[in-house]
Amino acid sequence: MCGIFGYVGVRERDVALMTYRALRDLEYRGYDSWGIAAMTPDGVFVRKSVGKISDTNEQELKGISGKLAIGHSRWATHGGVSEVNSHPHFNRDRTIAVIHNGIVENHNELRAFLYAKLGLVHADLFVSETDTEVIPHLIDYFLRLGNTFESAFVETGKMLEGRYAVVVMKRGEPYLLAMRDGSPLVVGEGEDQYYLASDVPAFLDHTRTVCYPGDREYLKVSAEGIMMRSLDDGAKVEPKWSEILWDKASATKEGHPHYMLKEILEQPLSLDKAIRQEDGKLLEAAALMKEAEHCFFIGCGTAAKMAKLGELYAASVGGRQTTAFVGSEFKPYEQFLDRKSVLFAVSQSGETADVLEALSVGKKRGAKIVSLLNVVGSSMDRMSDKKLFINTGPEIAVASTKAATAQAAVLILLAHALAKDGKAKLAEGKHLLRRAVKEIKAWLTPDLSYEIRRVAERLKDTNDLYIIGRGLNAPIAHEAAIKIQEVSYIHAEGFPGGELKHGPIALIQKGTPVIALIANDETRRDMESNTMELKSRGAYIIGIAPTHSPLFDEWIPVPDLGIASTIANLIPIQLLAYHLAVLRGNDPDKPRNLAKSVTVK
Ligand code: M6R
Repeated sequence: MCGIFGYVGVRERDVALMTYRALRDLEYRGYDSWGIAAMTPDGVFVRKSVGKISDTNEQELKGISGKLAIGHSRWATHGGVSEVNSHPHFNRDRTIAVIHNGIVENHNELRAFLYAKLGLVHADLFVSETDTEVIPHLIDYFLRLGNTFESAFVETGKMLEGRYAVVVMKRGEPYLLAMRDGSPLVVGEGEDQYYLASDVPAFLDHTRTVCYPGDREYLKVSAEGIMMRSLDDGAKVEPKWSEILWDKASATKEGHPHYMLKEILEQPLSLDKAIRQEDGKLLEAAALMKEAEHCFFIGCGTAAKMAKLGELYAASVGGRQTTAFVGSEFKPYEQFLDRKSVLFAVSQSGETADVLEALSVGKKRGAKIVSLLNVVGSSMDRMSDKKLFINTGPEIAVASTKAATAQAAVLILLAHALAKDGKAKLAEGKHLLRRAVKEIKAWLTPDLSYEIRRVAERLKDTNDLYIIGRGLNAPIAHEAAIKIQEVSYIHAEGFPGGELKHGPIALIQKGTPVIALIANDETRRDMESNTMELKSRGAYIIGIAPTHSPLFDEWIPVPDLGIASTIANLIPIQLLAYHLAVLRGNDPDKPRNLAKSVTVK
């Protein structure tokens, strides 16, 4: 949620334009409004606007020279979508500009503190409805008490509760101050220049050398260098630099009309990368899980569906009992976490607030943390005892596609490693997945996309769409519903096939479209019966299956990949959701009301 960017350099540059371009690369994080502040020889340049930054012509930001700038792409949490609520936010004399990603949870208390100290009422101090605006006023307050800019910033940081990444610029000071706790912030090091951002694509045109500050660390960043310290005790922290190995092309559309389509079509490649896991790492993660008395998979949204799949694979392939939870619903189970528990997080971003909260509690209670992530250096990466990466490169579209299938693939491997003779079983799992990737590569062609577009044309005006699956395909049915809801805005719901007769079948009328996920496994007969029941009530059946059935009004053939069929079944659904979105005039990359990374609860 929200993208932040900061720049400081030794030479004058076209800073507003540079910030505009960086925010455009971060737009997937938040896109309801944006703002830029740049320090120029003539004073502070500020531009704010409602809407997507990509809807503004970059020429409008050209010609603003300076050595310092900050910018923000917003996803509203506190206060509606308006210019006044967009960042940067300022103190009263507009000398301090602040951008912020996250939530200041105690903003009401901090407001009360400021009113009491300054003898002012709300209208004298605040111009916006945001939680963020307390930050510039607090810094201003501590400056007036005689603090330096840095110490006023640190005092303010100590008062903030919640998750945040904050970057601050002050008129007359040749450096930026930044701090983070829980929300992402990465530093890029160029020649005589530094960049701060929520994510690497913002500065990948300028540098690949990066460092990830830890929680409760703050930074003073000037053109000459960076100084990092602990927010709590001021202890110096040595920055650890690393190189980004993926290139900008993996964060661009490469000729596709949308990131979502590009990311769907590149799955043969992303899956191939995902299954190249080191045996040792999988076996170590599995060993922790085997030793544990309780093992919980945890994730949100699509990652929660993949976590459920992880649970099913752990049982059916690994012979281990685990339990999968949605991050936001884990609270009642925190009491069961102790040194004998393992919390296994599934997350593309590694920044999802509800999962992070459960992990922090788990950590405090001595549980072991294992994560399956995409983003290296993310908060979950830093707090995990063991981590596995899906290695798919950046996923830019808000809808999770290549990350979801990669998570499923690694969870299949993990389940093999969990089995009795883990090492031998893992070799079997790898063999199965290598074959699966090969078959997916041959099948996932532009023709498949055209064929599914034709199905989407038939369905584009429907109000409701249902998806059924059993066994391993039950979480896939739920995931299908998320995918269709989030980009097409069609009401979609997924059910286990066996649940139909317990209620949902009442929704079926003549012509109601239902997608049936029918795998060639022990669930096939029951699924066929369920599909028949739907058909007899007039449902229009779209079968996703390796073999044709007379029950289908439309058939989308998928390769039979055994237990990895879940992966193949997800792909036509992703394509269907994509085409439905486009046919209905939606932007599939930036669906309404959503953001890529949900860093607030
Ligand atoms: O970054 P994460 O994997 O933790 O994100 C979790 C969910 O927010 C995410 O999967 C979301 O449901 C997707 N937009 C769905 O496509």
